[in-house]
Amino acid sequence: MITRIEINGFKTFSDFVMEFTPFTVIAGTNASGKSNLFDALNLLSNLADKDMRSAFKNLRGDAEEQFTQFSSKEFSDKINLAVEILVDKTVKDNWGEEAILKYTRLRYEIQINRIRNTKGFDDLKISHEELVPIKHQEDKWVKNNIDTNFLESWIPKVKTGKRGKPYILTDNKLNKQIIKIPLDGKPGPGREFSANEIAQSALSSVNSVEFPHVFAAKKEMLNWRFLQLNPEDLRRPSSRMAPDTVSHSGANLAAALFRLQQEDEFVLNDISIELNNLLPNFTKVAITEEISENKFVIKLLSDDGREFTSRVLSEGTLRILILCILKYDNQHKGIICFEEPENGIHPFRLKMMIQLLKGLSTDFTDIELPLLPLRQMIVNTHSAAFVDKILKENKTYKEISVWFSKLVSKISSNNKQNCKYTKLLPVSYSHGQISLDFLEPSEIAMTELEVEKYLETKDFES
Ligand SMILES: Nc1ncnc2c1ncn2[C@@H]1O[C@H](COP(=O)(O)OP(=O)(O)OP(=O)(O)O)[C@@H](O)[C@H]1O
Ligand SMILES: [Mg+2]
Repeated sequence: MITRIEINGFKTFSDFVMEFTPFTVIAGTNASGKSNLFDALNLLSNLADKDMRSAFKNLRGDAEEQFTQFSSKEFSDKINLAVEILVDKTVKDNWGEEAILKYTRLRYEIQINRIRNTKGFDDLKISHEELVPIKHQEDKWVKNNIDTNFLESWIPKVKTGKRGKPYILTDNKLNKQIIKIPLDGKPGPGREFSANEIAQSALSSVNSVEFPHVFAAKKEMLNWRFLQLNPEDLRRPSSRMAPDTVSHSGANLAAALFRLQQEDEFVLNDISIELNNLLPNFTKVAITEEISENKFVIKLLSDDGREFTSRVLSEGTLRILILCILKYDNQHKGIICFEEPENGIHPFRLKMMIQLLKGLSTDFTDIELPLLPLRQMIVNTHSAAFVDKILKENKTYKEISVWFSKLVSKISSNNKQNCKYTKLLPVSYSHGQISLDFLEPSEIAMTELEVEKYLETKDFES
């Protein structure tokens, strides 16, 4: 789970700070940076796994377009990203080895420089990387967000006096910048890389629990999923050879549902009830095998007794169906970034949609054992009605935060020129859940007025 992000030099972000809760909603006007924030998370997730060129490839725009553009010719020459995360207490690698973490609160930083080489090409280089534990006494986010009665379920107790050493650090050695991964709690040399020379992050080099905290941070970032649903993928039946987890476009949905049914015979019932809450016309979700084609196909039963395969379902139905399935999928953990959940939903059903999204994010007070894996939902919205419903009906629920994005003019620390940058301001009837030290009191007051104006527009929707 991501709890804080700091961004500088990337797209519309300059000295940008924001905090998250398990269910985070970002409302705001067009082109104000809502999707750019998803792009930053996407880049971090890619950097945890891929080489630099590939990490920058699958984003909106070319690599150079990710660096903040100050004027028609001037771009930032570096991107700084920092994230603070909360991870599960245990981590398991692909070889079945498991490790129990000493710290579940971690902070990761990376700096990427854009350097012109002798041949006139621009190279992307990592000049700084760091992964450190966040010490409990300095952890304002935990203080504000997790009730002390439930704390031990999420944050292991660390004996006082033990100093949290970095798990990745950048150091100077014989006038050369070195990125190091010390052996986590054990004696030995660890790993060393030359900063500005490596083609991919030190974080990405760790593939096992040999370095438990680094591996946990990497796995966390790999579980940041960006749902960009493609109706064709959602509709397509799955072959028996298909992966049994849902892809970011919605592919393999039938295979995933088949697996869920194999794991738990009652799960289809739960999913049917969930779907029926939002779409009363459908009473039952079923998964069948098309023997002749050797495929699994999803069918919905309508309240008048007719049966429809996924091939003919509406886009809105498919968007709701995938969320219902993910909610009951034990293999689903990490973050879902989702654009405009109100799309395809009748305004009367917004409340049920919010309930469903809430069910896809961790409630820190829900500590039935064994603990469920951490889940987070980050959504963008244009709908004032959606924001209004969330605010009104979740006043005391700490796990939800709502933010309002807008562009503000300011002089960035990277460049002396005045430009427009994204600012996210908290929208809430009580600001209890977020530590707002990075905001001026005047900014908070200003948001309340703006949000009121924004929420008035809800009466014109639907
Ligand atoms: N490298 C860059 N430097 C500065 N600004 C950029 C850069 N790349 C994109 N932008 C700005 O970011 C805008 C896009 O922002 P984004 O896609 O996050 O908007 P949004 O809030 O998601 O809007 P919508 O609600 O329309 O989806 C572009 O219109 C452009 O003005
Ligand atoms: Mg957008």
